[in-house]
Amino acid sequence: MKRRIHPLFLVGAALAALTLSSIASQNRGADSPASNSAAERLAWWREARFGLFIHWGPVSLKGTEISWSRANTNPACPNKGPIPAEVYDNLYKEFNPTLFSASEWAGIAKDAGTRYVVLTAKHCDGFCLWPTKTIDHHIGNSPFRRDVCGELAEAVRRAGLRIGWYYSPMDWYDPDCRTERNAAYVKRMQEQVRELVTNYGRIDVLWFDWDGGTIPWDQSATYRLVRGAQPGIIVNNRLECSTGGNSPDKYTGPDADYLTPEQEIGAYNDKQPWETCMTLGTQWSWKPNDQIKAADEVIRILARCAGGDGNLLLDVGPMPDGRIEPRQVDVLKQVGAWLAATGESIYGTRGGPFKPGDYGASTRKGNTIYLHVFQWSGDALRLPAIPAKVVGSRMLGGGKTSVRQTDNGLEISVAEKDRKPADTVIALDLDGPASRLAAVDMPVSRKKAN
Ligand code: GLC
Repeated sequence: MKRRIHPLFLVGAALAALTLSSIASQNRGADSPASNSAAERLAWWREARFGLFIHWGPVSLKGTEISWSRANTNPACPNKGPIPAEVYDNLYKEFNPTLFSASEWAGIAKDAGTRYVVLTAKHCDGFCLWPTKTIDHHIGNSPFRRDVCGELAEAVRRAGLRIGWYYSPMDWYDPDCRTERNAAYVKRMQEQVRELVTNYGRIDVLWFDWDGGTIPWDQSATYRLVRGAQPGIIVNNRLECSTGGNSPDKYTGPDADYLTPEQEIGAYNDKQPWETCMTLGTQWSWKPNDQIKAADEVIRILARCAGGDGNLLLDVGPMPDGRIEPRQVDVLKQVGAWLAATGESIYGTRGGPFKPGDYGASTRKGNTIYLHVFQWSGDALRLPAIPAKVVGSRMLGGGKTSVRQTDNGLEISVAEKDRKPADTVIALDLDGPASRLAAVDMPVSRKKAN
């Protein structure tokens, strides 16, 4: 049955649209991109390939996992941690990270070769790293008082990188969230999001999380709010993951921009943009004496993500004094040094044509294929034939390579002494665009071959 729309409704809707669009244009920074087609919005992010995730908050005083280590106070939320809520929720009263320096963090991100930074503005424990007007549970009421979000956004942009917020739409601290009073919570939550996307100039990424529970967040209004204030922003897919079996590595709803496989490298996918998020240690927030991945492992993870046509958002958890742990900084520096020598094989590339496999991974840009070789079988790497002629080859980061091309395929040789422990990167220059080549499956004998 067709319902007639009352003319007053139409007038109201037109007025609301006008008001929304004028709010949007007031909030839009002068440097906001005018265009907002998904492909154009995503262009910088696809080129960037590598971002730094930062999970931080008063919980670092305990060294336990952010939010998850808080005891449960709401049966509709999944946390069942050992720290009593009254202890966890009061940690911020002692949180005074006097060694926090936003420009130092931004410098660390830049030296690591990351091109964007995503900070947990609010994790599921409800604590806000900016002085929100919506609740008292925020950094402005800690002894530290400073606006961490504001300082970081400015420093990151000054370093020439992009800034994004992780924001948890679920709130395990808020007494109204997922209760019969949820509507009151959603109002507060949307107001928090509004503060984050209007008070800090241009924001490039909004990274919503999902805890597997119900999602009564009024998603489309939340998206409209975000995109209205920041037309160029890109938004991940977790706001609308529902309990219906949708998973962050497979489902992008109509309003989201990219998939978010977690703690695993995404499968080759050149149709939907994706970004693996992964911890450098074993926990998202800081853990004392944590086991930290070696630089070589991070390099291979990054190359496998790029080779699968995805991004890597690598997570660090700063310490309670405000510094990123020196051991983590050291690994990040080594990754940055590697990128300084081989970055042309990561930044601005697309994955393939040889899909990631036991041998390593490959990326492509212009007329060039970049091979990332982790494993040699004997004296040469043998690859399937491609319908293009290899007209030149070179090693990135020093060394010599020779390539033999026959009807049966390619044979790439690099002397033992020129092979690199983490990743031997070889550029193959072709007689035409590498993007024309179809993606080729490669043997994979182990699930995770980092
Ligand atoms: C998971 C974790 C959450 C973390 C997020 C980052 O959802 O539960 O704590 O922030 O992954 O990807």
